Amino acid sequence: MGSNLALNIAASGFPLVVQNRTHARTEEFLADAGPLEDKLAGAETPNQLVAALQPPRAIILMVPAGAPVDQQIAALAPLLSPGDMIIDAGNADFNDTRRRATELAEAGLVHVGMGVSGGAEGARHGPSIMVGTTPEAWQAIRPMVNAIAARFRGDPCADRLGGDGAGHFVKTVHNGIEYADMQLIAEVWGLLRDGNGAAPAEAGRLFGEWNKGPLSSYLVEITATVLGTEDPASGRPMVELILDRAGQKGTGRWTLIEALKLGQSATTIEAAVAARAVSAQRELRLEASTRFDAPGDGATPFDEDDLEAALLAAKIMAYAQGFILLAEARRAFDWDMKLSRVAEIWRAGCIIRSALLDGMAEALSGKGPAHDNLLLAPSFAKMVGRTVPALRRVVCQAATQGLPVPALSAALGYFDGIRQARGTADLIQAQRDFFGEHGFERIDRDGQHHGPW
Ligand SMILES: NC(=O)c1ccc[n+]([C@@H]2O[C@H](COP(=O)([O-])OP(=O)(O)OC[C@H]3O[C@@H](n4cnc5c(N)ncnc54)[C@H](OP(=O)(O)O)[C@@H]3O)[C@@H](O)[C@H]2O)c1
Repeated sequence: MGSNLALNIAASGFPLVVQNRTHARTEEFLADAGPLEDKLAGAETPNQLVAALQPPRAIILMVPAGAPVDQQIAALAPLLSPGDMIIDAGNADFNDTRRRATELAEAGLVHVGMGVSGGAEGARHGPSIMVGTTPEAWQAIRPMVNAIAARFRGDPCADRLGGDGAGHFVKTVHNGIEYADMQLIAEVWGLLRDGNGAAPAEAGRLFGEWNKGPLSSYLVEITATVLGTEDPASGRPMVELILDRAGQKGTGRWTLIEALKLGQSATTIEAAVAARAVSAQRELRLEASTRFDAPGDGATPFDEDDLEAALLAAKIMAYAQGFILLAEARRAFDWDMKLSRVAEIWRAGCIIRSALLDGMAEALSGKGPAHDNLLLAPSFAKMVGRTVPALRRVVCQAATQGLPVPALSAALGYFDGIRQARGTADLIQAQRDFFGEHGFERIDRDGQHHGPW
């Protein structure tokens, strides 16, 4: 990511000095820079790097989250001058970013938390960039950031979304939505494979068709390509040869932790993170598969139009939960973040870019809580009303056939929860009062009350 970002910056006309822990990699990188070599210089140590730059300096870190970032900051900070800037362009827990911003400010230095999405290709040719820092620091780095970012109809997919940890928070939620989106697609692939007996190439063609409609997105597009790809050695579909054990680096988990701390529901994302955990427990799955029979009702194939609509409905729920979480974080941390701007800068460059985001930017552009909830925006309410019946049919059929659809089910559960005017928390409150004397509100009188238990 770091080398691709450096090449992007150089190609955009900004000279830079690069330094890496293993210097041999810096040498390799510079040797391969080709026509961009004029814009690039190498340094062997943090001291050399700082000495090669004129104040006010801007130093971009692109290393794994956690201790490596703290180690780099500890090595650089004593060498820097007041007003110099450290930009953490990796993924970071936004709590760390907030701490680092405070610590560096005390030393007269500026911290920028900059979430970058788009994978290696995006980093090289135009990622989506989510920045958290002071307005002054943003003004200083804005020309460079805008120049390297992806563009959607000419508009750079980059912006400052608030102070300190705002950029890394938005990037974390972006990744949480990415987890959900990928899991929903994988569940539909499972229904096609195990419910309909579709071969990968056949399923890939269907995803390719769906990519021409409202589901049009980077993830659906690459799904079509991946499912249609064969292993060159064996000629078998590549996906059939890949072990079904998913990795994760933490951003999905961070999204959930912050959602829970902020009292928000992120159940579609939670289902996706948990499904990766279950996927990793392969020994357990192998053992359980020999002990419990499938329900055996596998005769009815899933309707392909229903699957497309179900995927669309569930995807909207995942985005809706993500945006509500952002709205709550904006309130809790006093960030001047516009949700519509977040949707705008996700329209190109990032992994969750999709045709829906333009409409989301429009739907989220109003003021007030109702406009923070996609499901209440007329255009999305209409889309959800049209597609939820299919989601319901798909989830029911999957349950009957014993096919796992945790994220599709979570999306449906969330929808049914929010559209129920009278919920079942009356009983929860009664139980809490019964065993813990927690009290409850009544519908017919003000104040706190206890039951006659
Ligand atoms: N990969 C993606 O698609 C992607 C997308 C968005 C964001 N990110 C984020 O970008 C950051 C970098 O990811 P990556 O995929 O480029 O990782 P990577 O390929 O593992 O590269 C890690 C880099 O960090 C250096 N490094 C590792 N530990 C270090 C330490 N303790 N001190 C100093 N340098 C250290 C490595 O140096 P050596 O060469 O010496 O090992 C290498 O240059 C991460 O925060 C990641 O979450 C990645």
